[in-house]
Amino acid sequence: GEVAAFPTETVYGLGADAANSDAVLKIYETKGRPRFNPLIVHCADLGMAETLAVFRPLARRLAERFWPGPLTLVLPRKDGARVCDIVTAGLDTVGLRVPGHPVARELIRAAGLPLAAPSANPSGRLSPTTAGQVRRAFGDRVPVLDGGPCAAGLESTILAVNGDDVVQLRAGALSRDEIEAFLERPVAVASADSPVSAPGMLASHYAPKAKLRLNAVEPEAGESYLAFGPGPVSATGRSLNLSQAGDLREAARNLFAMLHALDRDEGTIAVAPIPEEGLGEAINDRLRRAAAPKK
Ligand code: TXA
Ligand code: MG
Repeated sequence: GEVAAFPTETVYGLGADAANSDAVLKIYETKGRPRFNPLIVHCADLGMAETLAVFRPLARRLAERFWPGPLTLVLPRKDGARVCDIVTAGLDTVGLRVPGHPVARELIRAAGLPLAAPSANPSGRLSPTTAGQVRRAFGDRVPVLDGGPCAAGLESTILAVNGDDVVQLRAGALSRDEIEAFLERPVAVASADSPVSAPGMLASHYAPKAKLRLNAVEPEAGESYLAFGPGPVSATGRSLNLSQAGDLREAARNLFAMLHALDRDEGTIAVAPIPEEGLGEAINDRLRRAAAPKK
């Protein structure tokens, strides 16, 4: 009946019993999240997930290959699934994932219940990749299980699977390349006007308080700089490097933590160009939303 924050391999989640509508309402209230935006339900294993959704063969193959791990499957909700309607925001589908983090899995097993959990940040803000960031956001309103920094640092990749159709609703910690290599075919990417989409994929999201200037080869006077790859960084203002080695996995892991760290003041964070390949797709997606004008 209460909420608690817990680590996953992607980002920290704010969890509650997915069947308890009072507890799930506390998640929406704590985050200030719009009610139309459904939550991902976290399961201990495929068996638990199968009590909630219909797994046709393709969905099952993806689950067996990539779970536990940073993949969310949006699947047809099963009749009688033990999930309250606000979790799915009234949709006839449900987003499911089996996280790989040992603390998350032990928590779900100990509870013996599927846990609804969005990222543990105020709605629209940067996702937390450490327990400290969750505590700074919510203070003592939310107990936090501290599992150290998240290994992936970006949210899960979301695929909607309907029979043999697969659409990527959100780029994330599992790169599309890896999914396509496994399926041996291309995976479509949802756009703003696609028939299926993730209601939470708003233009402005994952936003720091500071402004962002993207594809900045170097910072201008007074700007902080988020660099990528080798090379000297100018001494104007504060600067951090996502990955000196130009490694996209390392950059993904550092992205939110470094944006949090540079987000002390008003002002502008200039961000170096990131190649649009592998995990770069998800990194650039988050950066574009973080840079979009806030309403
Ligand atoms: O890595 C992650 O996925 C993290 C950790 C905590 O598991 N969770 C996370 O949750 O990122 P959240 O709430 O920040 O993002 C969930 C996204 C939203 O964009 C939501 O609209 C979409 O998943 N979603 C959930 N259920 C859906 C459904 N049935 N159909 C379409 N989109 C759905
Ligand atoms: Mg989120």
